[in-house]
Amino acid sequence: MDLHIHLEGRDDLARQIYRHIRSAIVSGRLGRGERLPPTRELARRLDVSRNTVSLAYEWLVSEGLLSGRKGAGSFVEGEPVSHAPRKQNATIRVRDVWESLDAPAPRDWTPRYDFGVGTPDASLFPFDTWRRLLARQIRASKLSAAYGDPGGHPRLRAAIARSIVVSRGVSAEADDVIVTHGAQQAFDLIARVLLEPGMRVAVEEPGYPPPRLLFQSYGARVTPVRVDAQGLDVAKLPDDARLVYVTPSHQFPLGMPMSHARRAALLAWAERRNAVIIEDDYDSEFRFGGRPLETLQAIDRGGRVIYTGSFSKSLLPSLRLGFLIAPPSMQRALRAASFVAGWYTQWPAQAALTSLIESGLLARHVRKVRREYASRHERILGALTSRFDEWLEPVASVAGMHLAARLRSRSTRMEGEIAELAREADVGFDRLSLYCAARPAQAGLVLGYGAIASADIDEGLRRLRRCITRAAASAASGSGRGD
Ligand SMILES: Cc1ncc(COP(=O)(O)O)c(C=O)c1O
Repeated sequence: MDLHIHLEGRDDLARQIYRHIRSAIVSGRLGRGERLPPTRELARRLDVSRNTVSLAYEWLVSEGLLSGRKGAGSFVEGEPVSHAPRKQNATIRVRDVWESLDAPAPRDWTPRYDFGVGTPDASLFPFDTWRRLLARQIRASKLSAAYGDPGGHPRLRAAIARSIVVSRGVSAEADDVIVTHGAQQAFDLIARVLLEPGMRVAVEEPGYPPPRLLFQSYGARVTPVRVDAQGLDVAKLPDDARLVYVTPSHQFPLGMPMSHARRAALLAWAERRNAVIIEDDYDSEFRFGGRPLETLQAIDRGGRVIYTGSFSKSLLPSLRLGFLIAPPSMQRALRAASFVAGWYTQWPAQAALTSLIESGLLARHVRKVRREYASRHERILGALTSRFDEWLEPVASVAGMHLAARLRSRSTRMEGEIAELAREADVGFDRLSLYCAARPAQAGLVLGYGAIASADIDEGLRRLRRCITRAAASAASGSGRGD
């Protein structure tokens, strides 16, 4: 065999020999079983030391490309690598459901007067305190190399259980709590352990879209059930629903609480139908008046309610911290689901949150923020009832970070036109119709007051009113731009 090796300069000679022989093997120029020249002979031909050649051969042996049989010489072991055609972007088929499911597009515009829903006021977040608590956790002495408990940080679970018992009357021990990556992951864990493809799930209409999409992604048949002034209309629930998702404290997005009678009816229905209820208590920290109704979880006698909570409103959504409280029969499966779904939420953040709760700083922060949101709520509700009455019918609510108002015209076309005019006026809000899964969609405005500074509310509402009067005028003249 004539092995041609050309060496350049006197540097890195072993590496050069190794590369030449390697490329001859993988390109097929040296076939399997062929014998390489003995090290002494090749060293002489290349005018290098024998050690240099031996080193190159050893590297090839360690890669499995050569075998060195003592006394017999070195033989090619590796196969030529067939040259695959250049990488092409094959179309990998995803499950059908994902063809129509999309993540929300990033916002292409931040309105100057932003009544967007769902975002708390970041300027109220206790950044210094959070930084200090987090920094304390990110120390070698604190950070363990071991994996943590999929149920979450034990002290955080205990702290959540203690505080939720007091603030919401939920009955829970530390072991009942699983810390999650926001409420959305709580819904995901529940869906993982309960849903079979084709199973029926009922959600509120209008309602919060992410859990509805999640249930669909698991192959469930999701039925939107209309809410009325008392909340979910239990009489309209499909008989075969196995899981029902509700927001009883502050219906999303309309805002009214579920009446006591409906709560009792829903629990009785679940008992009869052997169904499970998810109680999403996403922003109950912000109650501005009236006596809170007992949570479904607190009055549930059958162990059918899974309570979910979130720190996205009381702190920030970017922290991705939430939790669920599950009946004992589901806890083992949910812990296992948490393990397979990502194991657990970042430990230092969980530990920092533990300190925030245990020190009472979270409760203090919530009290401060609640006062601020209460005043924004009152301002907007006052304006809606006094200056928008001709076109809007606000939904009574005493909690949360947003208000909803139905368009008296019931026209989604007018709703679309208001949104377009508002964009030109640099005012943002959410369209009620976008929270509807059933048709015809309901028309209205959902106004958040987390993102907008108090000082901007009046001007934002003035602009919004002008947009509504213009949209109403063009609807009356039949010249609406439509949506
Ligand atoms: C109805 C509802 N549930 C839950 C959440 C919180 O979800 P997460 O904890 O995943 O941020 C929100 C946030 O906007 C919500 O509107």
